[in-house]
Amino acid sequence: MQATSVTRVLVWSNRLRLAHWILGLSCVGLLITGWLMNNTPLLAQSAAEIHFMLSGLFLPALLLRLYLLLFGKGSEQISSCEPNLHRLSQTWLVLKFYLTLGKAPLPKWYSHNPLWGPVYLVLFFFLLLSAISGLMLLKDITMVGTLSLNDVHHLSYQVILVFTLLHIPAVFSHDLAGKGADISGMINGQRIFEVENPQQSKESGTQAVALQDLLKSLKR
Ligand code: HEM
Ligand code: HEM
Repeated sequence: MQATSVTRVLVWSNRLRLAHWILGLSCVGLLITGWLMNNTPLLAQSAAEIHFMLSGLFLPALLLRLYLLLFGKGSEQISSCEPNLHRLSQTWLVLKFYLTLGKAPLPKWYSHNPLWGPVYLVLFFFLLLSAISGLMLLKDITMVGTLSLNDVHHLSYQVILVFTLLHIPAVFSHDLAGKGADISGMINGQRIFEVENPQQSKESGTQAVALQDLLKSLKR
């Protein structure tokens, strides 16, 4: 008889989650204080000070995330965001889920969402660009050759803003419609997977699932 069981797997390491939440919160703060700096003359000075303080949170988190991307393990690595043939086929299914407003089912994936994985890599590039341009603007360097660093900072924070406005509803919709407990997973590190045909352990009455079986079921 076919049975389905669920299992929790540690997908996101402590250090990746730490980097995610510090980056996420500091970016929201940097966007708000950046806007206040430009649009509210009364608050501009205090907003600039907070913008500077938040950059002190943002920078180490970004450096940690970039270090993990290059030298980390498993889901931390750049390869877990990169597209491959299997992920490209799943990308279409995620798009279909959005286009049908959640009526089409979401595919199963292990760590990074197959559609969003490459988007995260683009985001990391713009996060780095915002940091470099921001640091140079702080040192009153406004031009590199013919390139205006104000323009670079503008472009990068606009990309980060658009990402944030799409990312938050997207992860909420995945959590709502999918079975992976995605948001809770980004908090405690563990995603939930359904596994078909697990080996039943008669003695304990519990179901043991090999990770290999789990990974196979994800390729369906
Ligand atoms: C309420 C706010 C947020 C929630 C609930 C949230 C939740 C999540 C979840 C569940 C994932 C895993 C998605 C997946 O399957 O790929 C994720 C990934 C990610 N999120 Fe967020 N997020 C939030 C805000 C942000 C913000 C503001 C940023 C940056 C501007 C951000 C950047 C990222 C990045 C880069 C990843 C990929 C994980 C990594 O490789 O580090 N998130 N987020
Ligand atoms: C190391 C990180 C960062 C530093 C040191 C930094 C520094 C600065 C400085 C010095 C300015 C004033 C520019 C001017 O003279 O006009 C500025 C403006 C601004 N920054 Fe940042 N920034 C950083 C990261 C970010 C990030 C990650 C975001 C968005 C997520 C952001 C959003 C803004 C906004 C919205 C403005 C104001 C609008 C504007 O001048 O066009 N900054 N930042």
